[in-house]
Amino acid sequence: MAKNTNKDNSQNNNEENKKKVTRREALNLAWLASMGFLFVSFSGVTILFAMPRFKEGEFGGVVPIGSKDSIPNLNNPPENFPKVKFWLSNTDQGVLALYKVCTHLGCLYSWDDQETKFICPCHGSQFTKEGEYIQGPAPRSLDRFKVLLVDPETDEVVSETNENGEPLQIPEDSNVSIRVDTGAKIIGETHS
Ligand code: FES
Repeated sequence: MAKNTNKDNSQNNNEENKKKVTRREALNLAWLASMGFLFVSFSGVTILFAMPRFKEGEFGGVVPIGSKDSIPNLNNPPENFPKVKFWLSNTDQGVLALYKVCTHLGCLYSWDDQETKFICPCHGSQFTKEGEYIQGPAPRSLDRFKVLLVDPETDEVVSETNENGEPLQIPEDSNVSIRVDTGAKIIGETHS
């Protein structure tokens, strides 16, 4: 009789141990699952942040213009790039990409062939071919984007607009590709 009781007790203990193991395994699995979920979420967010937000050629990204023959001649009017929101202006000092939104209240200004300057249709602000303020309610000169000169063979940037947004000289004998970085806006200078 005592033998049977011992046997019963040992069976009960085994079953309890099994239950404990099963509970522990379940907790481990739940923990692993939650860690896996966290890892996948974190990786997904990291990949999303690492991806470029804009495609090449779209406004907000880098826009290829072509070789230096693609820029307007020095004596010609600036060229309008409406889809990517800038005017490409070739001046005595170099090339400029001017953001085509007026610095007053955001209207789209245009080049006036007769007046040889940019004029905003909304309140009449005027700017030179270099984007510099002439007159009107605009508080500053036109904003600019960085122009990049790229070696077409290595795809390396060999020269770019400086942080003041000054016109970029393109050497006569260079064989460079020109690009405009519409994600790198340089705010125009304010006037008194
Ligand atoms: S928005 Fe251009 S002058 Fe007012």
